[in-house]
Amino acid sequence: MDKIIRKAVFPVAGLGTRFLPATKANPKEMLTVVDKPLIQYAAEEAVNAGIDELIFVTSSSKRAIEDHFDKNYELESELEKKGKNELLKIVREVVPANVTCVYVRQPEALGLGHAVLCARPVVGEEPFAVILADDLINSGGNCVLAQMASAYNQYHASVLGVEEVPAEETDKYGIVDPGKTDGRVSLVQSIVEKPAPEVARSNLAVVGRYILTPTIFNYLEKIPRGAGGEIQLTDAIEQLLLEEKVLAYRFEGKRYDCGSKLGYLQATVEYALQHPELRDDFLEYLVTEFGQGAKKLVQAINH
Ligand code: G1P
Repeated sequence: MDKIIRKAVFPVAGLGTRFLPATKANPKEMLTVVDKPLIQYAAEEAVNAGIDELIFVTSSSKRAIEDHFDKNYELESELEKKGKNELLKIVREVVPANVTCVYVRQPEALGLGHAVLCARPVVGEEPFAVILADDLINSGGNCVLAQMASAYNQYHASVLGVEEVPAEETDKYGIVDPGKTDGRVSLVQSIVEKPAPEVARSNLAVVGRYILTPTIFNYLEKIPRGAGGEIQLTDAIEQLLLEEKVLAYRFEGKRYDCGSKLGYLQATVEYALQHPELRDDFLEYLVTEFGQGAKKLVQAINH
């Protein structure tokens, strides 16, 4: 794979109000699905797509994220002393040695667009990815960001990860109006932030994965506040469309909205049922508690 996309931005300054009280003192990105926090799944996805610079846009209440990706000497020396080599390996491999983590503060909660703009001095003049960690995507071995990076390498245009959502849910997402389509890729004709179902042009929603050209920063700097009084990434993309092509990419994989309690629970159950250490015992528990129907359900999930 060409290594054109080297940097990923993780906007992690949001308050996570949909998950209170769990997120009162803990960042929502540190919520754990089975045994890894959401932000680690997001970082692994970036690394698997060949990215080697992770840029976290944080705020004062998010220090746990920095600690998670930092070295923990005390823990490592304890594990070493006790010969717990497997655990030591897990702790050391949270980020591979060749990957750099950079932290930028978003001083005010002015929205996703503003968060991305805060990363500008670190991103510079190159295309980059944006990953929203609460959209967890399970794509087996076929990493979503790598799928999108291939589309970028082919077309040299910004790429938005999209999927169809129920028509009544368009007001939760950036909604794309797709034009000319070739397989999984469509030309974006317009994009609107959280349109009401009555006015939405489609039900094709952007779900937390973007590859953007640096031109986006020029628009993020200029656009006024949009939906919810925030500087919206979607509004800047709508402006970018006037200057450059933007593509919508229907990725292969299953997305869980881990910013919502239901989506988080679904992810927890399904990831547990795929976890090498847990799946057999967890399935046995489900079958014992809920009968053979549970087994059928699990088979349906895994196929
Ligand atoms: C943000 C974006 C929205 C996108 C969504 C994906 O909204 O503003 O365009 O569709 O993420 O999860 P939020 O969920 O932060 O309200």
